[in-house]
Amino acid sequence: MIRFKTALTSAAVAFALAGGFALAQETEEQPKPPRETWSFGGMFGTYDKAQLQRGFQVYKEVCSNCHPLTIPFRTLSQPGGTDFSEDQVKTLAATYQVTNPEPNDKGEIFKRPGTPADNFPRPEAYPNDQAAAATFGKAPPDMNLLAKARKYERGFPWFVFDALPGLQYQEMGADYIHAILTGYTKPDDPQWNLYYPGHKIAMPQPISDGSVAYKDGTPPTLQNYSKDIAAFLSWAAEPNLNERKRIGLGAMIFLFVLAGLLYFTKKRVWESAH
Ligand code: HEC
Repeated sequence: MIRFKTALTSAAVAFALAGGFALAQETEEQPKPPRETWSFGGMFGTYDKAQLQRGFQVYKEVCSNCHPLTIPFRTLSQPGGTDFSEDQVKTLAATYQVTNPEPNDKGEIFKRPGTPADNFPRPEAYPNDQAAAATFGKAPPDMNLLAKARKYERGFPWFVFDALPGLQYQEMGADYIHAILTGYTKPDDPQWNLYYPGHKIAMPQPISDGSVAYKDGTPPTLQNYSKDIAAFLSWAAEPNLNERKRIGLGAMIFLFVLAGLLYFTKKRVWESAH
């Protein structure tokens, strides 16, 4: 009897240990980026112009030193986004030197001030990805699609919804960017990031409290920078989101009305058949 009890106790201990081990392993694992609230989330969400303008400021002053953003300047004056005026965009574009796509009469490649139709040029210090990779070990990715390119498994029950177009959670990229920027949680290791797969990131912490002076009174904190740049990059990856949602909603209302009309027509037709 005592033997049996001992066996039972050791089994219980072994079980508890195994459980504890599994739990410890789980917390060691990669945590998921926390889910934030975004003005552009959900079926009716739209971009917040002031937030996008702050995000652009963060891009221009900080991220653009390393990351390309291959979109034309004129996107910045498109309605529903940063919504700068055409004159503002013209002035902004002219402050950049871009490489003319065609050589001049003498066959020379030359630089000239940008126009709204030009793309943002690459960071001056890194004319190509190889040059950037030689410095950092890895090239900083182009930011034009960054917010759409980063997806992760969200686990049950969310992956069920994520599999359905229309219900899919669209703001993972924004959550991820925000998480990376706020994920440098080991001050003694500048390349350790809580949310980067494998934790070792080639990007040294790019931004912290006070790095950028906002002009609209928004507190200059890492939290705000991270949310604003994540919103800006979501917009850059999908500048027509507002339009797409409006059309989607219009189509849904149309189908609803059509369904109603068909229903009553059918009823009428069958009634008069009697
Ligand atoms: C000093 C150069 C530098 C600056 C400035 C910089 N980055 Fe990076 N960034 C990099 C490099 C290099 C990588 C590649 C890191 C890797 O994959 O290990 C990277 C990667 C990233 C990633 C991860 C992409 C992925 O593949 O998952 C994000 C997100 C990111 N940067 C956002 C930003 C934002 C936002 C800013 C501006 C606030 C910024 N970066 C400023 C160099 C920089």
